[in-house]
Amino acid sequence: MMNDNDPLIEVNNLRVHFKVRDGVVKAVDGLTFVINRGQTVGIIGESGCGKSIAAKTVMHMVPKPGKIIDGEIIYHRKVSQNGHGEQTERVRIDKLDPDGEEIRRIRGGHIAMIFQEPMSSLTPVYTAGFHIMEAVSLHRFLPAETIGQTMTKNIQQKRGVSEEEARQIAIDMLRRVGIPKPQSRVDSYPHQLSGGQRQRVMIAIALSTHPDLLIADEPTTALDVSIEAQILDLMRELQETVDMSIMFITHNMGVVAEMADEIIVMYMGKVVEKARTVDLFDKPKHPYTIALLASIPQISEKSDKDLATIQGMVPDPFNLPSGCVFHPRCPAFMKGICDKVEPRFGEEEPGHWVRCLLYDVSWPDTPEAQPLKAARPRTGSVAAETSVMAAPTLPTATVQAPVMAAPDDLEKIEGIGPRISAVLQEVGITTFAQLANTDASQLRQILQKAGPRFQMTDPSSWPQQAELAAAGKWTEFETLQSQLSGGKRRE
Ligand SMILES: Nc1ncnc2c1ncn2[C@@H]1O[C@H](COP(=O)(O)OP(=O)(O)OP(=O)(O)O)[C@@H](O)[C@H]1O
Ligand code: SF4
Ligand SMILES: [Mg+2]
Repeated sequence: MMNDNDPLIEVNNLRVHFKVRDGVVKAVDGLTFVINRGQTVGIIGESGCGKSIAAKTVMHMVPKPGKIIDGEIIYHRKVSQNGHGEQTERVRIDKLDPDGEEIRRIRGGHIAMIFQEPMSSLTPVYTAGFHIMEAVSLHRFLPAETIGQTMTKNIQQKRGVSEEEARQIAIDMLRRVGIPKPQSRVDSYPHQLSGGQRQRVMIAIALSTHPDLLIADEPTTALDVSIEAQILDLMRELQETVDMSIMFITHNMGVVAEMADEIIVMYMGKVVEKARTVDLFDKPKHPYTIALLASIPQISEKSDKDLATIQGMVPDPFNLPSGCVFHPRCPAFMKGICDKVEPRFGEEEPGHWVRCLLYDVSWPDTPEAQPLKAARPRTGSVAAETSVMAAPTLPTATVQAPVMAAPDDLEKIEGIGPRISAVLQEVGITTFAQLANTDASQLRQILQKAGPRFQMTDPSSWPQQAELAAAGKWTEFETLQSQLSGGKRRE
């Protein structure tokens, strides 16, 4: 059962750099997150953003020539107090000898990983069963006979598994990950299994030890959807029964939405947004997250419609852009600000963190920033200008930057646009409070009537906007306008 105040893994300001011939790759660059006991944290982000390196570092398995150059990884390990309940101790994973006894006990037993490349993780000369039995023999413990009648309540010793028990567990795990004829497949070598079956053996090894933390790096990519569903069910079942936490890395937004309690969005080695899953999908804040979510294909979309993509390319790791590293690709880029200042990671709403200067207003005093500062609304939304940016689960996504106190005068809100503001004022709606309280159908009529007179583009979209405005979501109302291209907005 997940408990918000029961941390299992704490990662603080972690930096993992690779010094290579052409320079330094900052694969993980100031990563901070917590995984609570029983919690599933999803990690998403484009290829190369540092997801796998972060995961391997938690296992203290940084590939060469990578080095942890800063930060800490704390594992809150449960220790039995002689039968008198359990306490936790702090283990600094980053301080352990990466080849030493202690980390080997932790790896596989307490923290297990399903690697992105299953092929390289199975030894060709050992059978599927051997791999599982080895993990189980080293790390799995079963309840032993209790000692003495008077002490039975408090003391329950644990014992290792026998060879026969390990084989039975191996067969059972192979069956549970969907391998047909597990009694015979247990003796198959990796080359006798298909790619998907090898992936499932990997999953069986990781789950067989009942770890505290399962790190699953693209665990089901090679599997068909029915097997994927079976594996996800198995993970959830184990999570319930052994209170397992999961660090779930994936490119599949549907899967992460289904599995994760919280989502971390990474870009170029940093966390750019972190929120509860429902909040991230409902109200993504960072322009990168919005673009990522917009790139999910929608079943309702017409098949001839181009799939939304994130503009530009992932930057060259040896030549990172100044200021916000996302700025060359960001539709909400503010010249003289985003290219000058590195945004800080701040908590925008309880539990919802974002790294973006739309929220963090530590702007420089550059000549370009001056007029922006002056024209900046005291509050309101600064929306990402793009036609492809729209969160999939909402009619639109909002990039909202509450700057100072909330004004209530429509005219003062830069983002709402003079024409819409004029239309609303004509019918006596002059404040956001009034706008939020106006009935959707009434708003629809007002806007549709006035649209042609003000030569508004695409009046067919007005009903949807009216709906949003009436629902009290004026920021989304505003954002819809921003989804028009810059040229259309200037009309
Ligand atoms: N052994 C290595 N030597 C040098 N650079 C490396 C090494 N391993 C990874 N990197 C670099 O570190 C960065 C992060 O890589 P990582 O494998 O964590 O990406 P990822 O987010 O898991 O991507 P994907 O979604 O493609 O799996 C990349 O720029 C990668 O090129
Ligand atoms: S800081 Fe600027 S460039 Fe970076 S994500 Fe925010 S708006 Fe875009
Ligand atoms: Mg990876």
